[in-house]
Amino acid sequence: MRKLDLNMDYSYRVSTRMQRQGRPKIGVEEFMSVAERFGFSEGTLKRIHAAVGKEDLGGGPFLANYYCGLKESKVQAFERAAREILGVKYAIGVNSGTAALHSAFVAAGVGPGTEVLCPAIGFFATSAAVVVSKGVPVFCDVDQSLHMDPTKIESLITERTVAIAPTHVMGGVCNMGAIMKIARKHGLKVVEDCAQSCGGKYKGRFLGTFGDLSCFSISAYKIVGGGEGGLVLTDHKRLWERANQLAECGGLWRPERFAPPRYEGELFCGTNYRMSELEAAIDAVQLRKMPATVRRFNTVKTRILQRLGTYREITPQKLNDPDGEVGYNLRFYPETFELGARLVKALRESGIRCGPRGKNAPPDWHLYSYMFPVLLKTRATSDDCSFHCPRYHERGGAVHYARGDCPVADDLFDRLINVPLNQWLTASDCRAVAEAMNRVFARFCREDSAARPWR
Ligand SMILES: Cc1ncc(COP(=O)(O)O)c(C=O)c1O
Repeated sequence: MRKLDLNMDYSYRVSTRMQRQGRPKIGVEEFMSVAERFGFSEGTLKRIHAAVGKEDLGGGPFLANYYCGLKESKVQAFERAAREILGVKYAIGVNSGTAALHSAFVAAGVGPGTEVLCPAIGFFATSAAVVVSKGVPVFCDVDQSLHMDPTKIESLITERTVAIAPTHVMGGVCNMGAIMKIARKHGLKVVEDCAQSCGGKYKGRFLGTFGDLSCFSISAYKIVGGGEGGLVLTDHKRLWERANQLAECGGLWRPERFAPPRYEGELFCGTNYRMSELEAAIDAVQLRKMPATVRRFNTVKTRILQRLGTYREITPQKLNDPDGEVGYNLRFYPETFELGARLVKALRESGIRCGPRGKNAPPDWHLYSYMFPVLLKTRATSDDCSFHCPRYHERGGAVHYARGDCPVADDLFDRLINVPLNQWLTASDCRAVAEAMNRVFARFCREDSAARPWR
């Protein structure tokens, strides 16, 4: 075989031989494979094929969110929608909620030798992102709202604590007033995890606008979401820059991409959590629908709750802000597991979808005591820094995890009964649901006007 002559200009010789125009990298077939995913009818697919096939795709569309030649990429449109709707100065679209959390924690200064207070009920991704940022999660128990109990926070704060990460769970809302007050008193950053309550409000203000940074998952199962996506919000330019640097270390976010650092801590080795244009195209539209979706859920939940009686053996979930709930779930705690099982059976027989976890339920990564990679202080490599970091030990860190650390969460998580709600229920549907629930409750429990009200 002839050896390449390194002094020869091959590119010139090859390009002069090109006869035909190539096909675009992303062509009609690729577009059709996306359209087919959405279950359009045969006729519609044919029309889409005809429309796309007619287009001169030239070099082809470009689905990256940079250098795409558009005045505003879909990712930028999504970020603009987030800023406008949620009322913040800065937004970064990323490719998952976990990516958002990792970026936010690093931006907030989580690193070797630091601790972050995480809720006992939330999702594993929050504490995992603390560990990936080389910090150590410390779990804080919840109260009857299933959210972080503000009265338990202060006793967990040490000189290593740098942030509190309240998670708004299952459409609910944390007591942000109390949490922010404690954080400010101790000079701690707050990273809100809004993944499960996008569009929720606390005292009339959108969740995600209280913390120094906030994170959303925009995955398929969330209020807003197409497939896999995430969002970071902040009002602080420096935090936005640092989160960007972690999420997009190629520096495409910088006014001058290759300029030296403008200040200490601006540049560091990050990764690539960029959101894709296809995801952003869907999310930008969905985000604009979010307020109406949340309103519908909230109306349904309010209509049902207003009609429910109060019963001695049933405690409704405490709502930190009943008007700010996203309302895709209704929850209560029966006095015992046995009563819970009877209520669930009877509710289901009445046509009401509901579920308990029960006493012997399988592991679930929404409760701290099942988050085994954290509880077992696992590490990816033997010298991994987080739980096992010399810096952490030098600073007196010796976290210990076990079921029982957060007894309220352990008890409520298994005992609670969850009734998923449908945003499209009409007023008369809501009345029927409430009446059916009252009938079941009255069969097994004693009505008691002094019991905790539903809202
Ligand atoms: C509270 C919470 N935080 C973070 C995440 C992680 O989001 P993602 O799956 O987009 O990485 C989830 C996902 O379910 C979640 O519920």
